[in-house]
Amino acid sequence: MTEEKNKIPGISGKVKLLPSLLSVDFSRLGEYSLKALTAGAHGLHADVMDGRFVPPITFGADIVASVFQETGAWIDAHLMIIEPERQIESFAKAGVSAITVHAETCPHLNRVLSMIKESGCEAGVSFNPSTAFEEILRYSHSLLDRVLIMSVNPGWGGQSFIRDSLLKIEKVSQILNQLGSDAEIQVDGGVNAENIGEIVSCGATEIVAGTAVFKGDINENITILTEIIKKTI
Ligand code: DX5
Ligand code: ZN
Repeated sequence: MTEEKNKIPGISGKVKLLPSLLSVDFSRLGEYSLKALTAGAHGLHADVMDGRFVPPITFGADIVASVFQETGAWIDAHLMIIEPERQIESFAKAGVSAITVHAETCPHLNRVLSMIKESGCEAGVSFNPSTAFEEILRYSHSLLDRVLIMSVNPGWGGQSFIRDSLLKIEKVSQILNQLGSDAEIQVDGGVNAENIGEIVSCGATEIVAGTAVFKGDINENITILTEIIKKTI
């Protein structure tokens, strides 16, 4: 029996703001995670990198487990790693509520998504900017709890939003609607106060933001982003 992880509400029950831990001083992950959650973040986004799929190495399941123990937050693990199926059990045990793998790393994606569901976590697939949105048609959408559309090339925070992503968000939103899927559309990379409104207008239901949340005053940043989302939906 896989226990259902806690679903998160959102702004007006529609849009969630998920700060990325990538932009935090890693020696103060717990402190800054709690600050973001207290300021109104709906959960946390853990950018896991292995130095193979992307050049940097960030952190593994043990670090994410510490953040979960400190915060009890809804956490999604964005696995920017090769062979992600080998890490599903560890991240599920760490306490994450959702695991997202990259389509580019999974020749047997349907099997990996099933493994994630069996672990009790929500299952997501992520597409790089160079992966066509039609790819989503190749996968069992019935297994999908979220589609993560990368709006930067994965590996680093603080990059500029790739504006071509807006059409991709719209197309994926249309396809999911046609399929009758209620999967979330998560957008990750270069999101800030200038572009978050149009990103949400195109159909995004989960916003990952690192720099726009953690650089400067966290409270103020989250308030600004939340207000724009509220005005948009
Ligand atoms: C890239 C990461 C970043 C991060 C967000 O691999 O996934 O997109 O979460 O970073 P910012 O919000 O600083 O672009
Ligand atoms: Zn991410």
